[in-house]
Amino acid sequence: MTTPTPGPVPHPGRVRLRRTRSTPAMRRLVAETRLHPAQLVLPLFVREGLTEPRPIASMPGVEQHTRDSLRKAAASAADAGLGGVMLFAVPTVRDAVGSQATDPDGILNLAIADVISEVGDALVVQADLCLDEFTDHGHCGVLTPSGAVDNDATLVRYAEMALAQASAGAHLVGLSGMMDGQTGVVRDALDAAGFDDTAVLAYAAKYASAFYGPFRDAVESALVGDRRTYQMDPANRREAAREVALDIAEGADVVMVKPAMSYLDVLADVAAVSTVPVAAYQVSGEYAMIMAAAAHGWIERERAILESVLSIRRAGADHVLTYFATELAGWLAEEN
Ligand code: PBG
Repeated sequence: MTTPTPGPVPHPGRVRLRRTRSTPAMRRLVAETRLHPAQLVLPLFVREGLTEPRPIASMPGVEQHTRDSLRKAAASAADAGLGGVMLFAVPTVRDAVGSQATDPDGILNLAIADVISEVGDALVVQADLCLDEFTDHGHCGVLTPSGAVDNDATLVRYAEMALAQASAGAHLVGLSGMMDGQTGVVRDALDAAGFDDTAVLAYAAKYASAFYGPFRDAVESALVGDRRTYQMDPANRREAAREVALDIAEGADVVMVKPAMSYLDVLADVAAVSTVPVAAYQVSGEYAMIMAAAAHGWIERERAILESVLSIRRAGADHVLTYFATELAGWLAEEN
């Protein structure tokens, strides 16, 4: 007895999901998530004392700017229609308390004023509010005599730093230090000094991540060891909702999840419960992975960038900090 060869089996149902995938126009019509330049924020690095921009080896295409090239990069970001820029600065002199962070002539505060004078209100000019670039030990806060990061003494420095950044003209301060109570302390300090309109972005769920590796090069981090005593444990998901609720209660205008791609579950949770806009940060290591694989020809660069940022938006981010922001905005403009 021979087994009969099966003939063609007609699709039994009426449901054909392929119909809405059949043409570019159809796919565009039914796309649930879109990218827009206004939803992208470009992180930028400026280094004190540079006469030429300096490449960052682990972040090909990203550089430490001079004050002048920073202005130009901010102007291009504005021309591309981005939502904002996030400024990080590397000072030449570091000390135990990060004095340069609060000096009105410190490089970050000067850079904020430079960028504001260049782009005005065309972008939301944001500044990293953290001490790690400014301390000689590389931690995000001041230390106790035994070398632990002193939460409450650090809050005093953050309040001073917020005033310095707001005085320089920052529209938004980005609290990335993961000290308990930082959002409330900074909000109170800003309000007491009349900076009611300066917004606070809380890096609410910031994990102690290996994916910050290239950033440490970018800011020439002095850190020995890690930040596990203050940044979140990558094992924890529920705890992120707690961080977010506290930051919102303390007055955060925007909350953030960081890194993005390894934390899309956390991002989806946060987006579901947050009553304020949610940002996500596609960090330096995420950038470096895409760039390295693309350089080998192992992935298609442009498609991988678009897909990665789209996935971050799909998971729930209202806007995304990404080193690809200006380039990506250019592609979006071509599409439309
Ligand atoms: C802290 C800060 C870090 C990043 C942004 N703000 C480093 C850290 O917490 O160790 C990482 C950003 C990136 O990796 O792209 N000032």
